[in-house]
Amino acid sequence: MLVLGIESSCDETAAAVVTDKKELLSSVVYSQQEHKAFGGVVPEVAARAHLDKVDFIVDKALRDANVSFEDLDAIAASAGPGLIGGVIVGVMTAKAICAVHGKPFVAVNHLEAHALTARLNNDVDFPYLLLLTSGGHCQILAVEGVGKYHRLGATIDDAAGEAFDKVAKMLGLGYPGGPLVEKYARSGDDGRFDLPRPMIDKAGCDMSFSGLKTAVRRVVENFEAPLSEQDKADVCACFQRAVLESLTARLKNGIRLFKKDFPQAKSLVVGGGVAANGALREALQALAARRKLDFYAPPMNLCTDNGAMVAWAGMERFKAGLTDSLDFSPRPRWPLDPSTKR
Ligand code: KG4
Ligand code: ZN
Repeated sequence: MLVLGIESSCDETAAAVVTDKKELLSSVVYSQQEHKAFGGVVPEVAARAHLDKVDFIVDKALRDANVSFEDLDAIAASAGPGLIGGVIVGVMTAKAICAVHGKPFVAVNHLEAHALTARLNNDVDFPYLLLLTSGGHCQILAVEGVGKYHRLGATIDDAAGEAFDKVAKMLGLGYPGGPLVEKYARSGDDGRFDLPRPMIDKAGCDMSFSGLKTAVRRVVENFEAPLSEQDKADVCACFQRAVLESLTARLKNGIRLFKKDFPQAKSLVVGGGVAANGALREALQALAARRKLDFYAPPMNLCTDNGAMVAWAGMERFKAGLTDSLDFSPRPRWPLDPSTKR
């Protein structure tokens, strides 16, 4: 079976084709450069850029995979949550293909796509504990099956990726900030500045990154001379260490809560853009080993937004009989766990 997946919920226009045998036949990602001048994603600019590129990206994904629309079993698109203008572009493109070629449509929750990506390259059984950490979301979830999520904790303010982006902006490193902060952090002294780890002593596994971001701003503003490259590296190293220690501390509680419900479960999984951070992957690997869990992360290029994760989530839903009507409305908000608001 073949599924085409389309992603357009933020600033990547992407499409990919996967098979039910977990073969990734193609994956085309266009990362919009239009936002660089603004230091962040501008929704209206993003929507226009998606519209501009989506036909070409879909066509290239099919050509790279050497398949035609007729060969496809279903077409999936990220249908939310995200910037609604962009989401509409991807969803309408998928629906148009479905209408013309008489194919089933699968509306994929972007967060579910991140949640299931690790299963494309690994045999990870349900249930598993998931750290979903991206630019817009930071959550700890029990993944019980396709479409079955129980949220154990989440950030009460900023997402971790957002904090990386804001720190990069404060230091004038560029956008997107995550990879740049990680690069600087490698040559920095992570003990030079004392930064907070908000909420790490609290029960449960909710998180917070806004206070940490403010503390970094204070450090940066208190410099008397312009920051040297070494100063910037030291700020990045201290910030990254604080994020990692916060995430792992909260996950320790998450693991305890998860094991109460699922004592037989074996896996810790990470997904979302921040999962591309090498130091985070190492920290999670070490934590999983201490807790006798197997650790799985998607390959680096499938952590940040891409079409393969949407195609794969589409495949998982299609195989479970979960297709959607062409009336499906894109959703700016769409929690994975329906008992929660975000
Ligand atoms: O999943 P994603 O592409 O988009 C959303 O769904 O939000 O995640 C993007 C986020 C950005 O905030 C970016 O700075 C962060 O992931 N990111 C990283 C790294 N690569 C991307 N954060 C830390 N370290 C990285 N290497
Ligand atoms: Zn994402």
